[in-house]
Amino acid sequence: MKRADYGVDSPAVVVSELVLALLVLSGVFLFPRPIGWRLLELLAAAGLFASAGSMLHYSRSGKLGVRDIILDSIAWRGDETVLDAGCGGGLLLIGAAKRAPRGRAMGVDVWNRGALSGNGPPAVIENAVVEGVVSRVEVRSGDVRKLPFDDASFDVVVSNFVIHEVNNAAERERVVSEMVRVLKPGGRIALVDFIFTGECVATLYRYGIGDARRKRIGGLASWIGTILMLGTFQMCLVTGSKNG
Ligand SMILES: C[S@@+](CC[C@H](N)C(=O)[O-])C[C@H]1O[C@@H](n2cnc3c(N)ncnc32)[C@H](O)[C@@H]1O
Repeated sequence: MKRADYGVDSPAVVVSELVLALLVLSGVFLFPRPIGWRLLELLAAAGLFASAGSMLHYSRSGKLGVRDIILDSIAWRGDETVLDAGCGGGLLLIGAAKRAPRGRAMGVDVWNRGALSGNGPPAVIENAVVEGVVSRVEVRSGDVRKLPFDDASFDVVVSNFVIHEVNNAAERERVVSEMVRVLKPGGRIALVDFIFTGECVATLYRYGIGDARRKRIGGLASWIGTILMLGTFQMCLVTGSKNG
């Protein structure tokens, strides 16, 4: 049976890490060097393999778990209109369409292929067909810094691993404020990222989401990432609801 394919995140980074790991590893065996150097090089190669492996594991199965965490944070009625901001292959919007059988799910993206392999509207539609929700989903090309929707268009806005793609704090503030703008009063927001989530919570407060909060998610791999990245990597879920 065909399975939905939500793409590999940062494919060029994964390939570069694998190539570099192989180069380092071949150096260990091909060139004579003191044993201490060889051990260091082996460690470096192992780290690169582990990093590429964890990114592939996240892309292939980990992101389905993150999708559940995001969607479980919403109390679904079943008739919501949902926006997946930076939808990529449709991970969240397809999951949302399943939870809102009487609703509609919209995805918006600039379809950057460096961020996600196979990125584009055809991938979303193909995945929606495989998951049996194609009649309830729609995609549009657009920038999350200036969402192409009227104010108060959606009951739910969700987003996964998009905030870190936006380069500076002023632009990230625009992304979060746009999410709030298109949310209906009483609507709910839920997003996940591994950096800038504290900044998102502060921005949500500034734009009137009084119950904005974040919580750490992810298992052992996420903790290892946090330790290796000296605390700069912390996978967090950010949630909040717009005053009704
Ligand atoms: C790491 S991928 C995540 C995709 C999807 N949310 C998922 O979890 O599989 C980041 C996505 O954000 C999109 N993106 C980056 N900057 C964007 C922008 N300014 N406006 C809309 N989409 C953007 C990329 O094209 C890519 O699809």
